[in-house]
Amino acid sequence: MANETLTVTDNRTGRTYEVPINDDTVRAMDFRQIKVSDDDFGLMVYDPGFTNTASCRSVITRIDGDRGILEYRGYPIEELADSGTFLEIAYLLIYGELPTQAQLDEWMREITYHTFVHENIKKFMEGFQHDAHPMGMLVGTVAALSTFYADAKEVDDPQSREKQTQRLIAKMPTIAAFAYRHSRGLPYVYPDNDLSYAGNFLSMLWKMTEPKYEPNPVLERAVDVLFILHADHEQNCSANAMRSVASSRVDPFSGTAAAAAALYGPLHGGANEAVLRMLTEIGDKKRVPEFVKRFKAGEGRLMGFGHRAYKNYDPRAKIIKETADQVFEVTGRNPLLDIALELERIALEDDYFIERKLYPNVDFYSGIIYQAMGFPVDMFPVLFAIPRTTGWLAQWRELVQDPEQKIARPRQIFVGEKRRRVVPIEKRNAIREHAA
Ligand code: ACO
Repeated sequence: MANETLTVTDNRTGRTYEVPINDDTVRAMDFRQIKVSDDDFGLMVYDPGFTNTASCRSVITRIDGDRGILEYRGYPIEELADSGTFLEIAYLLIYGELPTQAQLDEWMREITYHTFVHENIKKFMEGFQHDAHPMGMLVGTVAALSTFYADAKEVDDPQSREKQTQRLIAKMPTIAAFAYRHSRGLPYVYPDNDLSYAGNFLSMLWKMTEPKYEPNPVLERAVDVLFILHADHEQNCSANAMRSVASSRVDPFSGTAAAAAALYGPLHGGANEAVLRMLTEIGDKKRVPEFVKRFKAGEGRLMGFGHRAYKNYDPRAKIIKETADQVFEVTGRNPLLDIALELERIALEDDYFIERKLYPNVDFYSGIIYQAMGFPVDMFPVLFAIPRTTGWLAQWRELVQDPEQKIARPRQIFVGEKRRRVVPIEKRNAIREHAA
């Protein structure tokens, strides 16, 4: 068997070092021994955006971007989306195994039990401006929840971790729906614990004067599938935010607020909104070739295409496309779908996109479905945050139990002024004028 090491020669000194390779990875700290002198700090590695740096060992989610594979705890996303419910998959992400019927019943009972929020949370949300963005309300309110649960600080107590996990998964749809109702000036609807996780969410969003909201089973299932597809995606920007913030041992409500804030950004949870804007601008199937030409010339990007990890079809996009057909049978066809299908057809046959391995990603079709279901565009990141909370919590639980983890505290390459003396304020103008 080949020697599992890396031999490095420092040409500054001519010295050679042998660094172990484990899991096709070298440890950054093994490079610190490489020095030009005894008082040298040692070699660092530089990786803005963490494009080639593993921050943890994880057993939760695996992506093989070249093959278009996504697995939660070893199960392909296609099988999970086909057969499971969101709460079943949430159990899998949190505990590592699919539940038995008894375990699922107990888990559903616990989640259902925690769907209500304290009445003061409702009052807190009433304080937001009428036109506040629902994602801003969600981020602020989740952070505020930490003040209601003092026991959440006990992050090393397994029982406390269980409680906060259940509370967060249960309360996110309630807060999300309250944020939506607030932005529409509608009264809040309390959770209906007879309904499924997705069904209850739809009830809290859409219920008006009817005594009991009956969710359409096709739309309820579509929301559940979309929740499954968005539940985790390994070390993405928001999962990394959760891990980084929680590494200070702060409570998980504060950590989840930080993760949701990361998701809010247009480079992360906001791309499906950009897809909708792009499809609306194209406006007609006939104009697709003209726009594709523009994208190839570097005039904007084909939104919803390309991915840092996937250099193949995003497996989630395939499932979403099938879900779209089912949703449109109920809601009527979103006219933007025809433009999207034509765009995909032309792009996938075009050498520019083939050579660069650009395929539809999860956001290409999700916005079209959400729009057909009646969600306003500013709710799109909120719809992402609800299921992703499960992923953030799975990542958090792994982090706090990992003895190798420390507070996240990167190094820097300092390129600013070295040591200089303070000039008294009355002399600064004269010195600067002299320098100019
Ligand atoms: N349209 C046209 N050209 C593209 C696109 C696109 N959507 N994406 C990448 N390219 C081209 C680039 O111009 C570049 O071409 P070049 O080699 O001639 O310079 C090449 O493909 C590689 O692109 P990079 O930007 O280096 O790829 P990277 O992995 O850094 O970017 C990203 C990935 C940000 C997702 C990119 O593909 C993109 O901007 N896509 C559109 C936005 C989008 O849909 N984002 C959602 C991602 S999914 C999610 O976050 C939930």
